[in-house]
Amino acid sequence: MSFFNDVPQLPEDPILGLPILFNADIRPKKINLGIGAYKTAEGLPLVLTSVRKAEQILLQKQFNKEYLPIEGDAEFLRYSLALLFGTDSLPIQSGQFFAAQTVGGASALRISGEFLAKHVSKLIFIPQPTWTNHRQIFEMAGLKVGSYPYIDIQTTLLDFEGMTHAIQNIPQGSIILLHGCCHNPTGIDPTFEQWKELSHLIKKQQLIPLFDMAYQGFGEDLDSDAKAIRYFANEGHEMFVAYSFSKNFGLYGERVGFLTVCCSKKESVPKIGSQIKALIRGNYSNPPIHGARIVLTILKSLELTSEWKMELKNMRERIQEMRKSLVSSLLVGAKDRNFSFMLQQKGLFSFLGLTTEQVLQLRHDYAIYMSDNGRINNAGINIQSIPEITKAILAVI
Ligand SMILES: Cc1ncc(COP(=O)(O)O)c(C=O)c1O
Repeated sequence: MSFFNDVPQLPEDPILGLPILFNADIRPKKINLGIGAYKTAEGLPLVLTSVRKAEQILLQKQFNKEYLPIEGDAEFLRYSLALLFGTDSLPIQSGQFFAAQTVGGASALRISGEFLAKHVSKLIFIPQPTWTNHRQIFEMAGLKVGSYPYIDIQTTLLDFEGMTHAIQNIPQGSIILLHGCCHNPTGIDPTFEQWKELSHLIKKQQLIPLFDMAYQGFGEDLDSDAKAIRYFANEGHEMFVAYSFSKNFGLYGERVGFLTVCCSKKESVPKIGSQIKALIRGNYSNPPIHGARIVLTILKSLELTSEWKMELKNMRERIQEMRKSLVSSLLVGAKDRNFSFMLQQKGLFSFLGLTTEQVLQLRHDYAIYMSDNGRINNAGINIQSIPEITKAILAVI
């Protein structure tokens, strides 16, 4: 007899399970485009020089390892919020916000989801498609998850009409998840004019925006990528932002992020703060210190900040370069398909608009690995691999 024997086996995570399949593949010329992290042209993980320098400083300072407060380090939060909102936006000026450091962006989403399910609404609407973890995070947080269309399958461009039409039918008081920039997996963001329309519509429909911001600096630059969130905040939306430092500081495994809530009334701030702190205490108790200290050390130093911004620019430019080169190569060979839609995409990923069957064929026949939804990580490409990737994609479409 066993208490555990009837536990059903689940499949591997669609993204984090991919490296397991990739590593088990013995073909020598395999290519991994399914990774969720930046890689160098040589396919190696990158630790930023600014991060290494900050770690040296931290080592010299011989900090203790005491617990942080439940909501994390106040100075880290102050600098993080300035990076996100700028210094002259409504939440910063009015002080009508609560913020808490979290365990990466994922736990910012989870804690936000739990708070919203408990106190605001049980209904959340997420874009279709979206990051594969969103549905699971929100369901586990106690939310009922609906969706709104995001992409036009025919053109592989933003389906703005479908999106706005669906939003008009979302029940009042529901939560709507929006990607602040560099939508994952499509890389397609609304234009600023479209963001303004969305803000108006979301307000009219009385929805609560929850922004997922995991790629600030990977689209155009730090300020441009924050434009939508800053606009919504200045328009006075009561809203949440779940922020990740995993990608823009390359701090994946350090688990650094934060959540912030913009309130329309100052009296709400301590009440919301007390509830969020209780949720954190009952979950991971308090956040990890090291990654947040790295971010703070960089953001507090003008010199390290400018070095970090340069390194972020370099990552962004390599990604854009790889995307452009792949598109040029595909355009030469593709007779029935115009891949130039990819040039409008931003961020780490490109969305190829392939079917799951085509993705699986690439995996089985060509040892090219990508997420089942046809998302590739542009940083997984290099100049040498482009001809092979092109040949394989053209063969399966
Ligand atoms: C859209 C999106 N949101 C959130 C996250 C979670 O980030 P973190 O690793 O900081 O938890 C990711 C990570 O891939 C992501 O792509």
